[in-house]
Amino acid sequence: GKDGYRHYMEKELHEHPLVIGQTLQRMVDPASRRVMLPEMPFDLASVPRAVITACGSAFYAGMIGRYWLEDIARLPVDIDVASEMRYRNPPLTAGSLGLLISQSGETADTLAALRSLREKAVHILSVLNVEHSTMARESDVVLGTVAGPEISVASTKAFTAQLTVLACLTIATARARGTLDALGEEELVSALLDLPSRAAEVFTQGEAVRRMAQVVAEARDVLYLGRGSMFPVAMEGALKLKEITYIHAEAYAAGEMKHGPISLIDRTVPIVASAPYTPLFDKTLSNLQEAKARGGRLLVFTDTKGAERVSAIAEDMVVLPHVHDFVAPILQTIPVQMLAYEVAVLKGTDVDQPRNLAKSVTVE
Ligand code: M6R
Repeated sequence: GKDGYRHYMEKELHEHPLVIGQTLQRMVDPASRRVMLPEMPFDLASVPRAVITACGSAFYAGMIGRYWLEDIARLPVDIDVASEMRYRNPPLTAGSLGLLISQSGETADTLAALRSLREKAVHILSVLNVEHSTMARESDVVLGTVAGPEISVASTKAFTAQLTVLACLTIATARARGTLDALGEEELVSALLDLPSRAAEVFTQGEAVRRMAQVVAEARDVLYLGRGSMFPVAMEGALKLKEITYIHAEAYAAGEMKHGPISLIDRTVPIVASAPYTPLFDKTLSNLQEAKARGGRLLVFTDTKGAERVSAIAEDMVVLPHVHDFVAPILQTIPVQMLAYEVAVLKGTDVDQPRNLAKSVTVE
């Protein structure tokens, strides 16, 4: 049941801290505080490249995984949505890594992409929530996201669990490839282990999220902005808003705004920015100043350090605890999903079962 929550989506949003913790328990050895992945039939150290593919929210999780694997493990990564990847025929060296991400393990396009990668003698590693799914049977290795059943059509907790797994995979890959020493691993693992309690603190921001929801609910179009690993967080926020509130939303890499969408900006198009205090904060801040100068209303998701700098121009802010850059996208995802939820409640839409959508898309 819904355990007293109004919708499954609300219940599942509140499970973020729990599922991040459960997923970490599966992947981090408590004694050594090191990432321990299951035995793999191939060596992460000798994989020449990874190809990541998935659909919808799982694809955005994959995009964040790409930033991590490139930056921390120095692994070349290609990524595309599965509906494109299945027909792309990319040239791949045998022994490359196919990294598939899916909550259900049954998404038709992701499964077809898995099969087309397999034909190229690529190792198949799948990040799955349903561990007895078709994709699980056809993978060389499955890394489970321990999110439990997800009922709401809009994915929430499965997404942060996917990110948690991808973060652990990045650490293991970086260690194998010699790009992360023991001290570095300790730092990243500590940041991950700290996340469940930081994620629980996000819910103290409910009032601020509901204030923002009042603004967004009145809009016809909303622009989501983010840079680096916050760009996919913006994409996740925009997808969630479209999916359950039927309000048009678009996510842009913050630096790309001046190449077109800045002409849209006026009082009627709220700007939702994901801007915690990471090394890219100043860049995002200057994009937000540009938007403000054109009459944009800024609704900013930030952290305690970022808030000091952005409060002068923000119409409203959701202020999260400041965490390590590595895990910031995981934490910042939670309030953008909450915002979509609160807007849907205001609009009175069918939150758990939005029109025209199914939980798992098993046809092409
Ligand atoms: O089961 P999957 O993770 O493969 O599903 C992928 C997408 O269909 C899914 O994430 C969809 O975009 C969600 N409804 C988004 O909230």
